[in-house]
Amino acid sequence: MRFAILSTVVALAAVAAADLQITSPGTDNWWVAKSSNVIRWTCEDTSHPTFNIMIGNKDINVQTAPIAIIPNQNNFDCSKTITADQASQAPGTGWFIRLTNPVNETDIFAQSQDFEIKPLGSAYPVQTSSTSGSAGATGASGSAAPASTSNSASSVGWSVGALFGALAVGVLGA
Ligand SMILES: *[C@@H]1O[C@H](CO)[C@@H](O)[C@H](O)[C@H]1NC(C)=O
Repeated sequence: MRFAILSTVVALAAVAAADLQITSPGTDNWWVAKSSNVIRWTCEDTSHPTFNIMIGNKDINVQTAPIAIIPNQNNFDCSKTITADQASQAPGTGWFIRLTNPVNETDIFAQSQDFEIKPLGSAYPVQTSSTSGSAGATGASGSAAPASTSNSASSVGWSVGALFGALAVGVLGA
């Protein structure tokens, strides 16, 4: 019984410590310019029910100051697709997303890792989330096509790998 209570206390402490964090974009989760892109955050922490979503660049020569792209976003949505009309930042590195107090944008609740915006037509990063489909649904042509749905892209990769493996076995076995 004592152990059960202790476990509960530890679990509650873990929940309380789960600060609001932006899980994407980030170092390995770039955006694609002039396309739809996704922001994801940890929505377990309900201490900030709403926030403004802002985008900035660490180089003030690229963008002077962070600007709001979505006001009063509900935390419980857990992610948001940003259309090309809502954010039109140029390709480049050093971009970051900020979640701020809706009435005081210098009160920063969370900031993403710096991320890159790749040129129009670039492939999206592979996502495991179910929302990756919407991220891939853009008018971008050319090299973006293989990544339009991450699951099919990865299964194609696996099939090709398996095929080569089978061929290699066949060659070695001959
Ligand atoms: C806005 O937030 C900053 C950082 O938390 C704080 O220093 C400042 O006093 C706040 N401004 C107002 C008007 O509440």
